[in-house]
Amino acid sequence: MKIIDGKAISEKVRNEIKEQTQVYINKHGRKPGLAVIIAGDNPASKTYVANKIKACKEVGFNSYCIEFPKNVSEDTLTKKIIELNNNEDIDGILVQLPLPSHLNEKYILSLIADNKDVDGFSAYNMGLLALGRPKIAACTPLGVIELLKSTGESIEGKHAVIIGRSNIVGKPMAMLLLMENATVTICHSKTKNLSEITKTADILIAAIGKPCFVKKDMVKEDAIVIDVGINRTEKGLQGDVDFNEVSEIASYITPVPGGVGPMTITMLLKNTLTAAGL
Ligand code: GUN
Repeated sequence: MKIIDGKAISEKVRNEIKEQTQVYINKHGRKPGLAVIIAGDNPASKTYVANKIKACKEVGFNSYCIEFPKNVSEDTLTKKIIELNNNEDIDGILVQLPLPSHLNEKYILSLIADNKDVDGFSAYNMGLLALGRPKIAACTPLGVIELLKSTGESIEGKHAVIIGRSNIVGKPMAMLLLMENATVTICHSKTKNLSEITKTADILIAAIGKPCFVKKDMVKEDAIVIDVGINRTEKGLQGDVDFNEVSEIASYITPVPGGVGPMTITMLLKNTLTAAGL
């Protein structure tokens, strides 16, 4: 079994982005700019946002963290997003999810201009991805593809099974894997005989949000296992995969932390550079 070191791979890609950012600054006379909006005080969200802002600074972007209290109105957020859409210093806008429950998440996200949607969540960007010609795709699935490629194993023709059908991970993940010519199955909470399906996976991607959900008896010998889960438990951060058990039979596996997480932020940097128009 080999561990896919997301931190090391991420560092390599971030160094490339840093160089490309210098080229961008020399050419355009300005830094790419990312605005991150956070509402409320969810500790996990605050950590993610702080990491995103820090990563932007490290590669030479301007980054702006715009904080709102938990009870912020839809109207206030709407005005801010429209202002950012019209601000030429801002290339990318990200609204950190989840939003406080009184806000209509779909509506708020729909306000972000398609060309500044660095999460790749808009109907336009998801539509282009579904058509197989993405401009900006969701960061976590993009990061997973990079991690899979880092193994040197071919994705083409392999059976990739994704557990989870979210708009953020499962659906865009399936579309990116199809573009790599994998045979793709999406499983979810209503899937019958889940283990029977996951045991046929050459590539198994867990994005369920349940700590240690994937056990050894759900995994085929020598499968590549990618753990997208980041669950805060009493025992600390835990993935969706029972790493101790599954690492005994997987050919490659991502750890939590240090696997998919750092790559998600790296792909956000890449998307911001794309949105800036390198
Ligand atoms: N919350 C958890 N993951 C994400 C993500 O990829 N983007 C945004 N905007 N919020 C998130």
